[in-house]
Amino acid sequence: MAVETTPKNFLETNKRSHMCGDLRADHIGERVTVFGWVDDTRDLGAMVFVTLRDRTGLIQVRFEPHIDEASYDLSKTLRAEWCIAIQGTLGSRGEHTNDDMPTGAVELLADTVEVFSKSAVPPFPIRDETEAGEMFRLEHRYLDLRRASLQKTLIARSKVNQIVRNYLTDNGFLEIETPYLTKSTPEGARDYLVPSRVNPGRFFALPQSPQIFKQLLMIGGYDRYFQIVRCFRDEDLRADRQPEFTQIDMELSFVTVDDVISVCEGMVTSIFSGLMGIEMSAPFQRMSYDEAMRRYGVDNPDVRFGLELVDVSSIVETSGFKVFASTIEAGNVVRGIRVPGGASKFSRKGIDGLEAKARIYGAKGLAWAKVGDDGWTGGISKFIGDDERVAIASEMGAESGDLLLFVADKESVACAALGNLRKQIGADLGLIDEDAFAFCWIIDFPMFDYDEEEERYHAMHHPFTSPRAADYDKVKTDPLGVRAQAYDLVLNGNEVAGGSIRIHKQDVQWSVFEQLGLTQEEAREKFGFLLDALTFGTPPHGGIAFGMDRLIMLLTGAKSLRDVIAFPKTQSASDRMCKAPSIVDADQLSELHLALAGRALETKPEEG
Ligand code: AMO
Ligand code: AMP
Repeated sequence: MAVETTPKNFLETNKRSHMCGDLRADHIGERVTVFGWVDDTRDLGAMVFVTLRDRTGLIQVRFEPHIDEASYDLSKTLRAEWCIAIQGTLGSRGEHTNDDMPTGAVELLADTVEVFSKSAVPPFPIRDETEAGEMFRLEHRYLDLRRASLQKTLIARSKVNQIVRNYLTDNGFLEIETPYLTKSTPEGARDYLVPSRVNPGRFFALPQSPQIFKQLLMIGGYDRYFQIVRCFRDEDLRADRQPEFTQIDMELSFVTVDDVISVCEGMVTSIFSGLMGIEMSAPFQRMSYDEAMRRYGVDNPDVRFGLELVDVSSIVETSGFKVFASTIEAGNVVRGIRVPGGASKFSRKGIDGLEAKARIYGAKGLAWAKVGDDGWTGGISKFIGDDERVAIASEMGAESGDLLLFVADKESVACAALGNLRKQIGADLGLIDEDAFAFCWIIDFPMFDYDEEEERYHAMHHPFTSPRAADYDKVKTDPLGVRAQAYDLVLNGNEVAGGSIRIHKQDVQWSVFEQLGLTQEEAREKFGFLLDALTFGTPPHGGIAFGMDRLIMLLTGAKSLRDVIAFPKTQSASDRMCKAPSIVDADQLSELHLALAGRALETKPEEG
């Protein structure tokens, strides 16, 4: 057979028989047509080897003149990333079998090759281990997407979508879309705004979540809703946040906290078994917010390892170390962590590093001591008397060889500093089983927290979250004592989902707004349609939203959200490839009744 030279469309007469990565010894002797990209070429003179890649993997192709001369000649001209078709017969690699490749037992003996299109020399090689910087790769994302690791994650993501749809529809949920051009929603980040051309001076907000709409769907009688939905939040970005991200969002009528949790556990276990063949055991661990803060210092504890926080406040009330005694006198706390065997693992410099980290979370310092056979050494040991040592050691379970770390401060600072140190020490000392998946529900969140700078209360979840029925009256009298029917699902120290049972009684909703400092007019202006809807026979309801990107990141072991999103944004919320956001024509602005002001006027077109 010859090289295809006629102008006819190759695809009209030749159909793909296999995907590259699927070829196995079972297929030996079969006639094969594969399509893909040239991953690699090796010209050995008498024969040419080409590795062909598609999204399923790689297959080795061999060209030899005695099989087909013209194909052999053409194979010598093939270059990386050309898009080609190859036909031939599948053979065995015999003693040259490559056990590192799923297709390593076979090779394709090529008799036909069709070049669909040549490729310019790619700006970086398409390899999983790459030296090309991420920002550079993002500019050429279409090439970066050819890397096997990205293809694997996006394929996993597609499977999760399918599993979730199947599981939720099997459990009586309807998939219903809600608007993207809408009004400000109550999740507390900044909104992305969209100007309205036909309504001068008016703006849509892109939804931070479909929160209000899904509650309206419950009032509308739809009973169980879900949506795999894009959300938009203009907030400071970190590795685990994107300005647009995807939620698996759901809402259910006539349910309790336990009902929502059990639906979620069913969904999560079906994802694990469907995607990875792992049978997770449910129910997952549950912990109150108060317990999480007390034991781990954070509300998203990684429960794969110990290093729990210990309160020594009552012991150090009269401490010889003045920082401790004065902290307790001021009504604050002293908490510590015992690092088993830490005395020999942390040098002075290492401890300075921990202290610097504690300071990031607001601690004024990090007090420490090493426990030896003959008493304590270093740090604060010279200030601590014998009785106090014995009491602290017994409270913390300290043994010879341990390192003890303490933060004396307001409870919130001590928790944040030690909670984050704990995570770092756990990682540094290799205490974390990286292959484990540890889920933990955090429940009984406080309804409000108090912002000392703004001198006002905020809703810890969102203002439609219902207090526990027993706490309704406390909303007015003891807001910080009110516990909410809110829950977060934490996986390996990451919040992967959050939700709540909602308020379905108008008077409770008003008392919550009042505590949040919203006047009747402001509440009506923001959420009037929901408040009206609540007067028309609202079913008790509740729901939750999973951060799909975070979940996929954790399931696939990806390092950042950018590795699980096909076309992600950078830390500065921009798209390196499309160069978005960009400047727009003056005409477009004027059509939208907008004019630039301030720093926006200084933007140069090339920065667009
Ligand atoms: P919440 O704000 O907790 O709840 O969001 C739910 C989950 O979405 C994920 N998430 C994010 N993922 C990536 N980038 C971001 N910027 C980002 N922000 C949040 C987190 C989080 O757990 N309407 C409520 C849900 C409800 O009450 O039903 C809501 O949006 O994994
Ligand atoms: P100083 O007396 O400021 O030199 O501090 C002595 C040690 O106590 C240093 O290791 C400080 O980091 C530590 N320290 C100071 N303030 C605190 C605090 N509030 N909590 C814990 N350790 C502290």
